[in-house]
Amino acid sequence: MRPSVLILSLASLTSLLGAGQCIRLTTWNLRYDSQPDNTTVADTLSALPDRLQEPTSFYPDASRERPWSSRRVGVAALLEFQAPTIISFQEALFRQVQDLKELLGADWDWVGIGRDDGKARGEFSPIFFNKTLVQLKSWDTFWLSDTPFDVSKYPSAGSYRICTVAHFSTGGKNLTVLNTHFDDQSDDQRRLAASLILHRARYEAATTGASVFVNGDFNSPAEGTDNGAYRIFSGRIPPVAINSTFTSKFAIPSKSPLPSNFTMLDTRGTTPRSKVFGHFATYTGFSKLGVTSPYGRIDFVFGASHVNWKSVAYKADEALYDDGVYLSDHRPVTVDLLLP
Ligand SMILES: *[C@@H]1O[C@H](CO)[C@@H](O)[C@H](O)[C@H]1NC(C)=O
Ligand SMILES: *[C@@H]1O[C@H](CO)[C@@H](O)[C@H](O)[C@H]1NC(C)=O
Ligand SMILES: *[C@@H]1O[C@H](CO)[C@@H](O)[C@H](O)[C@H]1NC(C)=O
Ligand SMILES: *[C@@H]1O[C@H](CO)[C@@H](O)[C@H](O)[C@H]1NC(C)=O
Ligand SMILES: *[C@@H]1O[C@H](CO)[C@@H](O)[C@H](O)[C@H]1NC(C)=O
Repeated sequence: MRPSVLILSLASLTSLLGAGQCIRLTTWNLRYDSQPDNTTVADTLSALPDRLQEPTSFYPDASRERPWSSRRVGVAALLEFQAPTIISFQEALFRQVQDLKELLGADWDWVGIGRDDGKARGEFSPIFFNKTLVQLKSWDTFWLSDTPFDVSKYPSAGSYRICTVAHFSTGGKNLTVLNTHFDDQSDDQRRLAASLILHRARYEAATTGASVFVNGDFNSPAEGTDNGAYRIFSGRIPPVAINSTFTSKFAIPSKSPLPSNFTMLDTRGTTPRSKVFGHFATYTGFSKLGVTSPYGRIDFVFGASHVNWKSVAYKADEALYDDGVYLSDHRPVTVDLLLP
């Protein structure tokens, strides 16, 4: 059945809200393909069980990770049902990116690179987009380190970390999407990463005058002791010093049209309370049902405050269903955004 039959389509949402262009943005950390096998997408599709068969038990063995080959069809089906305009993934290895392109089909295209070599090695933070809804203008990647234009790692970080930037236009409006995944081990890296991305977001806002959204896995919550990135993003503490080649390349015009109270707004907070749906936590791990100690809200969608976009609905969805197969250790977060 077509998704638009079951949920309010973006087109009807847009007409309901009057003039303006609505985009549906999803961010989802997919969990990397940690148990690779050689099962093809075609093999998985042909082995799917009879969908009328009642399960012998609910949530069987729902406390462990399954190989990507057993998760990918559910990942793609969930996304197709929600019919986002743009999807930001994190942790996707090249095989996962290729599989999703195959499963999501011809309407979709994507941009991104592997963080470990700037080509295909390591995890991607790719941006997928329905190319019948948005047109890609340009894109680039930088590293979240002291040398942002080199394949590089921040000294105390566990991994190479990147940010993918894509410029789109849709219905005569422009927007910039930045997709990222901060380090899991170093709050210093996360502070630096947030400072680099905040600078780039200001640059995008000042030079395009259009909407700017930043999404991804911050590997740290909004509150607590480990939340340097969120505090920098929300303006509660100042950014840290960043590379000067980066600030010259992305120099913010001195006659900057940005308001002095420019900040990044957390769309979970800007969405009307009655339209915030689903879960609070976006990370669950592969924990047993009811074991919530690892849970946290660490995946965010932020919008830059200089223009008046509206977040009209927000959903942190489920990644674990009756069959007990965690689609990922993170839940997908989806926001409907009305562009100014
Ligand atoms: C996948 O196939 C390659 C080439 O045939 C083989 O070397 C590799 O061991 C296989 N991997 C697994 C996990 O079966
Ligand atoms: C992409 O957008 C078009 C509308 O232009 C829609 O018909 C189509 O179903 C979308 N594709 C997916 C896979 O959501
Ligand atoms: C800034 O980054 C550039 C490009 O990655 C690098 O060549 C340069 O050495 C860096 N500057 C400093 C002071 O680290
Ligand atoms: C959108 O961006 C293009 C450059 O890619 C620019 O020429 C155009 O004027 C922009 N449109 C708006 C409405 O700002
Ligand atoms: C910034 O200031 C303007 C003018 O006072 C106000 O309308 C706007 O809501 C403020 N924005 C934020 C993010 O506080």
